[in-house]
Amino acid sequence: MRRVKVDEAVPGQRVARALYYPNGTAMLASGAALTPAAIQRLAQAGYRDLYVFEEGAEDVDGRDLVIEAARAPMARKLAAFFKSVRDTIGRAAAIGSADEATTVSEKLAHPDVRKAVKSLRFVEAMSGPELDAFFDGIALEKDAPMVTGMPRTEASHHVDHALNVAARSVMVARRLGWLPRECRELCVGGILHDVGYHVLPEEAVKAAPGQQLHPAAGYHLLRSDTGLSLLCAHCAYQHHERFDGRGFPRRLVGMQTLSARDSTGPGSMHRYASVIAVADIFDLLTSGFPDGWAMRDDEALQLMRNESGKALHPDGLKAFLALTPPFPVGLEVEVLDGEWAGCTGIVASVAATAMDRPAIKVLRSGGAPLPKAVDIDFSKTETSFRPRGSERR
Ligand SMILES: [Fe+2]
Ligand SMILES: [Fe+2]
Repeated sequence: MRRVKVDEAVPGQRVARALYYPNGTAMLASGAALTPAAIQRLAQAGYRDLYVFEEGAEDVDGRDLVIEAARAPMARKLAAFFKSVRDTIGRAAAIGSADEATTVSEKLAHPDVRKAVKSLRFVEAMSGPELDAFFDGIALEKDAPMVTGMPRTEASHHVDHALNVAARSVMVARRLGWLPRECRELCVGGILHDVGYHVLPEEAVKAAPGQQLHPAAGYHLLRSDTGLSLLCAHCAYQHHERFDGRGFPRRLVGMQTLSARDSTGPGSMHRYASVIAVADIFDLLTSGFPDGWAMRDDEALQLMRNESGKALHPDGLKAFLALTPPFPVGLEVEVLDGEWAGCTGIVASVAATAMDRPAIKVLRSGGAPLPKAVDIDFSKTETSFRPRGSERR
C-alpha cells in the first residue's frame, strides 16, 4: 500500500483502505479499482489523499490504528450522535459567537437545555456493541507500529479526530499500565473531548473565541444529566491545559507522574487529560484539518519532542513516541546514498525496536519501475533516506 494524493491517483489502481461519505457510509470499498469517475467523486467529497495497493509490493500492508470493521460502525454512530447534539443542544442553548465562558455555562445550565441533554442519551451513544468493538479493535502495543491516520475530509474531520484521539490515548494508557476500566473511561473521554464545538454556532467554531470556549462548553454540557462519569467531562474541560501551566481555560499544571497513585489536587491536570492532550496535538498536526496544512508524522513527532515538559507531559509523550513510527507503512521515501542512491520506494514495515529505521521496498529508479523490488532494512544499514518531497520543505 502507498499513500498517494488524490490528484496523483491513476485509474486502475486498487484502493487499499475504504473511503467514506461524511455520514459514514462507504464510498469505495477496500480492493475496488479506481475509475476516473471514482477519482472525481473522491475529489468532490474533499479527500486529498488515499491508500492504494502498490504494483510489485502488494504484500506491503500496515496495521491500522483501529481495525476497519470495528471503526466504521462507530464512526457512523458518532456522526449521527454529533449531529443530534448540534441539532438538539445548539438550538436549545442558543449560544452566540460573542458569548463569554460564563454566559455559555449559564445557558447550558438552563432547565430546558438540561432536559434536552437528558434526551440525547449519552450513555447509550457511548456504549453498546459499536463502542465495545471499537475499544477492542484498538491496536495493541505488540501490533504497533501501524499505518498513519486514515485519509479524511473536512466533513468527516470531527468524527475521525474524535476516534483517532480516543484510540491513540487508549494505546498510551495501556502502555502506562492503566486498568482496563480506566482505559475504557478514557476512550469515552477521548471521543467526547471536543464535543463542546458541537454546541457552539458554526461561525464560532473556526474562530479563536470558539476555540477558547469549546473546553468549557464541553464540560458544562457533560458534567451532569448524561450518566457519564465526571472524568469524561473533565477530559473535555482540560485537554487544552499544558504540563507547564500555560494552557487554557484554567492554567492547570500537569501532575508529576501519570500513575493512579498520584491523585489530582486542585490546580492540577487530571492524567486522562494529559494523555488526551498528547494524542490531540499529533492528530491536529498531521490531519491537515481544520487549517488545510498537514505535517508529516516525523515532523509532528519532532515538534512534539520539543514540547516535552512544556506543553506535553513527558511520560505521556514518551509512551506516545514508543508507539508511533515517524515513517509509517506506505510512506514514499527516497534513498540518499549507497547502491540504490536516487531510487524511490515505500516503507514496508517498522520494527518496534528501531522505530526511526524502517524496512523499505525500493521500487523505482529515476521514476521507472525496477525489474524487481529491492528490500532494504534500514535498521541494519547506515544508508540514509528521506520522505519523498521533504527536500521541498
Ligand atoms: Fe480541543
Ligand atoms: Fe481535539
